[in-house]
Amino acid sequence: TDPAMTDIVIFGGSGDLAWRKLIPALYMADLHGRLPEDTRILGLGRQPWSTQQYAAFLTQHSAPQLREQGDDERWHRFLQRIQYVALDANDANGYAVLGPLLRPPATRVYYLATAPALFAAICQHLDTAGLITPQSRVVLEKPLGHDLPTAQAINAAVAQHFAEHQIFRIDHYLGKETVQNLMVLRFGNAIFEPIWRAPYIRSVQITVAETVGVGNRAGFYDQTGALRDMVQNHLLQLLCIVAMEPPLSLEPDDVRDEKLKVLRSLPRMDLPTIRTHTVRGQYTAGAVEGQSVSGYLEEPGVPADSQTETFVALQTQVRNARWAGVPFFLRTGKRMATRRSQIVIDFAPLPFSIFGHSGDAIVNRLILTLQPEESVQLQMMAKEPGSGMNTKPVYLNLDLESALEGRRAEAYERLLIDVIKGRLTHFMRRDELEAAWRFIDPILEGWRALGEKPRPYTAGTWGPAASSALMARAGCSWFEES
Ligand code: BG6
Repeated sequence: TDPAMTDIVIFGGSGDLAWRKLIPALYMADLHGRLPEDTRILGLGRQPWSTQQYAAFLTQHSAPQLREQGDDERWHRFLQRIQYVALDANDANGYAVLGPLLRPPATRVYYLATAPALFAAICQHLDTAGLITPQSRVVLEKPLGHDLPTAQAINAAVAQHFAEHQIFRIDHYLGKETVQNLMVLRFGNAIFEPIWRAPYIRSVQITVAETVGVGNRAGFYDQTGALRDMVQNHLLQLLCIVAMEPPLSLEPDDVRDEKLKVLRSLPRMDLPTIRTHTVRGQYTAGAVEGQSVSGYLEEPGVPADSQTETFVALQTQVRNARWAGVPFFLRTGKRMATRRSQIVIDFAPLPFSIFGHSGDAIVNRLILTLQPEESVQLQMMAKEPGSGMNTKPVYLNLDLESALEGRRAEAYERLLIDVIKGRLTHFMRRDELEAAWRFIDPILEGWRALGEKPRPYTAGTWGPAASSALMARAGCSWFEES
């Protein structure tokens, strides 16, 4: 192998993911000298384009997002690395054209940015055409399955052609700077670990709120819904990082072993629990950040009677010694009041207060904001100025962006570099993915059995009232301050 030599092959090269995320990420990596010097990129698609036409397409679609970053000359130099190949992924004979374009000693990255229905065929055809070298890697984009059996089928099909250490299942949340920082916060500070458990922690809440609606993705989203689109992957991964035991090291399997244990500790929900511990919502017309927006059912491409959820809230627990009795609340939704991903750790109240009110009034809370800004806040009690001894919550505020200078690469850039270098720590292992589906499947089945419509919520709010009620039943409430 020659580590400087890298061939990146993007299936779905003219698709949304490629022009929105992958090409910009590769460009930024190039601009900042992080791409191996001798990197070539093959964009594959069905359109009968020339490389020149593909370059024009990327200049039109990808380059505008990058205007502030570099100049025309740098962009055009980057384009020199790219070649377009017209290929129907289902046509086994077409793959022969790839052979002469790939260099045997190079690290090979096959990025499958296509519908997962094509994954098995692509791997099979690559193998038959003799294109899988020992230094080849394959990147699989979500959705990795629709449920456990479909996820297992994809994993089994890919495993016939690639070894597990060659398979990079992407969850772009794991590439976010702030998500990676969570590990440092937890395991790189001595003060948290002793109290990072029951009974010192009373509850954990994880919110990924988006203001965007379904956009032009109705075809995909209406078949998917928020539980599969966000909870199965991103939210469960966040939960894993919050709840896992310290891994032996940062080696991929050490980290993934610990995450797997967390996923295996999530109890499968039965029907009564699903009724009381989950909430499905769907947005109706409203206003998001001052702009009026239509309801989900009015979105282009959404069937008028769709029962797909655009919001989920649920309560679960991690059944192990560290977390016994601590509720974990997850919630995510589209068209919510504001865009914010946040993890809130509520510490248990003081057993006794000398300040004349019950210990319950004393609230210590750690608020980790992952986006849009990156901050750590610790809510503490302080004395209100004046003659009495009244307590009042105040915040210790750490704005990580001003505390730590340096470029914050996009998730895809960081993850692509990891793929090129063969670093698997921030990718999901097969058993991890399947364990996540084992938690999700019963909920999907339960919802089907209950046959209830999602609860409407007005766009621009925090979701249906039932979501607050779910919290209230556990004696908690969602943290919604900024
Ligand atoms: C994707 C989902 O995985 O994550 C989208 O398919 C969602 O529906 C997106 O909008 C959110 O990612 P981010 O990085 O904008 O928080």
